Amino acid sequence: MSSRRDEMLTEMGLTPLWRLRERASIPLAAGATDDTRAALEAAASEKAGSIPKAVAAPPALRAGDERRAAIMRMDWTALKQAVGACVDCALHAKRNKTVFGVGGENADWMFVGEGPGADEDAQGEPFVGQAGKLLDNMLAAIKLDRTEKNVYICNVVKCRPPGNRNPEAEEALKCEPYLHRQIELVKPRLIVALGRVAALNLLAREASIASLRGRVLEYRGTPLIVTYHPAYLLRNLTDKAKAWEDLCFAVRTMAHLQSQVSAPI
Ligand code: URA
Repeated sequence: MSSRRDEMLTEMGLTPLWRLRERASIPLAAGATDDTRAALEAAASEKAGSIPKAVAAPPALRAGDERRAAIMRMDWTALKQAVGACVDCALHAKRNKTVFGVGGENADWMFVGEGPGADEDAQGEPFVGQAGKLLDNMLAAIKLDRTEKNVYICNVVKCRPPGNRNPEAEEALKCEPYLHRQIELVKPRLIVALGRVAALNLLAREASIASLRGRVLEYRGTPLIVTYHPAYLLRNLTDKAKAWEDLCFAVRTMAHLQSQVSAPI
């Protein structure tokens, strides 16, 4: 392991634990396939079973259909402009900058957080504050980097909720077409939902992080896994080890997904 990597793991407060598990888990693409398959099968049966069926949209939602349809036709340029000019919920009033997303527009990995904080609102980029530093270290620990093409990072809402409160349902609903279009355009192989708000909005159901971790779930056909939000991990150091388990699980899942695509027919 490089000394730079040692430094990063130390910074996360996870050595020697992270180092030990990293050796055991990351290189095991072949050996990990069974785990992942089991997780994928579990996800498939879950999909058939417990995810609630869509219900008819109330009139207020139908009124938004046209807006949604227009967003679904947008390319990257139009989508960025639309988000930058959006005044469709109350969050626009106090924002400094919209926070669209960053990374490779065809990335395999997509990390979705909750919403911008003060630093992100000032800079217009997701995860640039303290939580962002931890996210960068988490990415580096699995050999990913936000500046490379293979990672895309964005949030459920694109404007800062005042005082860093959770986004209201209405705010998340207004932003949902933007996120959905980002996912459609990136076409990630795997989405990692960072924290409960991201999980709740992407899975459209209430559940604890504990009950969602360690399984391959799905966002409209795209595999999705859930882990803790970096800001939560900054406050709950003991759960960093669980986040590391989740990242190793994500790496194994990605290896499995990539092997499925590249395997000869
Ligand atoms: N927390 C988030 O969920 N997203 C950010 O961009 C920053 C902090």
